[in-house]
Amino acid sequence: MSSSKQKTVLVAGGAGYIGTHTTVELIEAGYDVVIADDLSNADISAVRGVEAIVGRSVPFVEVDCCDTEALRREVFEKYAFDSVIHFAAYKAVGESVAEPLKYFRNNLDSLLSVLALMKEFDVHNIVFSSSATVYGQPDELPATEQTPRQRANSPYGLTKQMSEDIIQDTVAAVPGMRAIALRYFNPIGAHPSALIGELPKGVPNNLVPFITQTAAGVRKELAVFGDDYDTPDGSCLRDYIDVVDLARAHVVAVSRMVERTAAGAEGDRYEIFNIGTGRPVSVLELVHRFEEVNGVAVPHRIAERRPGDVEKIWAATDKANDVLGWHAERDLGETLRAAWAWEKRVRGL
Ligand code: UD1
Repeated sequence: MSSSKQKTVLVAGGAGYIGTHTTVELIEAGYDVVIADDLSNADISAVRGVEAIVGRSVPFVEVDCCDTEALRREVFEKYAFDSVIHFAAYKAVGESVAEPLKYFRNNLDSLLSVLALMKEFDVHNIVFSSSATVYGQPDELPATEQTPRQRANSPYGLTKQMSEDIIQDTVAAVPGMRAIALRYFNPIGAHPSALIGELPKGVPNNLVPFITQTAAGVRKELAVFGDDYDTPDGSCLRDYIDVVDLARAHVVAVSRMVERTAAGAEGDRYEIFNIGTGRPVSVLELVHRFEEVNGVAVPHRIAERRPGDVEKIWAATDKANDVLGWHAERDLGETLRAAWAWEKRVRGL
């Protein structure tokens, strides 16, 4: 890294769960960060948590990334950066089914606006938050980056597929531009400091926040969605990736693009990587492991299957391991302890 432009990263949607953790890892790796976030699904206190961890203030701009004019004026004209990590999107699967236009409008507009401004300001690199949801239920497991995508089962999932395609075509048309799409499996956990973590608004849709809130007594009991799947214990299998490990993958992705540009590397300017552990874990196993490592009960009962859930999915991580040199490092028990430490701090327990 030579110039300050190359050392600065715009983190769009940087006040959210994965954005805050990524900002910490970027700063600890020597990057400067500018956060842009409209705070529609995040709280400014999350940015304060990041600042407490890194021990300095982090430039923050409250702006809706869909608003191209405001993003140009408040961010692209004011700061010089060469890479963007794009997290700014809605992520509730159920809500996307009820309000598809809201999802298409927000998730696509924010991406289009970021890409247009990158082109205008000659910003070269983008990391995109994609998801294992693009695979649907694969015929063969683990899912590799070559596993065919299937028709998404929600508008949310469709925005991830469409965004990948938009980025691929944009990169092909804009000389010098590079992109890496990271397909996250199931991000869980929190920073070991317990100063940042996942803070869902309302009733959590995702498993681990529901578990931690149940353990904290905020929810009465966890419904385990289905115990009659074709899996060892009948509950669904997922690949749970620690959010700090996931955050590090973004830093490695940015560094790779910066280095490849500096080296004038030929070849693919658009790359996709699965980010997971490669290990399937069932819902029931996860609940029991959480209880065991934290010494706390999680009242739960078996409930109906949740419509739209895939039975089992986990990642082939060879490409991320070999090409990015990235590996999932944190142990599941450690991750579940961090998730509980964060929940306790939020609840003042
Ligand atoms: C979903 C999305 C994924 C998205 C992720 C984060 C799909 C198919 N999946 O993943 O794209 O990135 O959310 O928002 O679109 N479970 C329970 N009880 C609960 C909650 C969950 O048993 O109260 C089970 C689910 O049935 C599933 C597992 O826990 O088997 C994980 O669920 P969840 O955390 O919601 O993530 P996914 O559905 O895998």
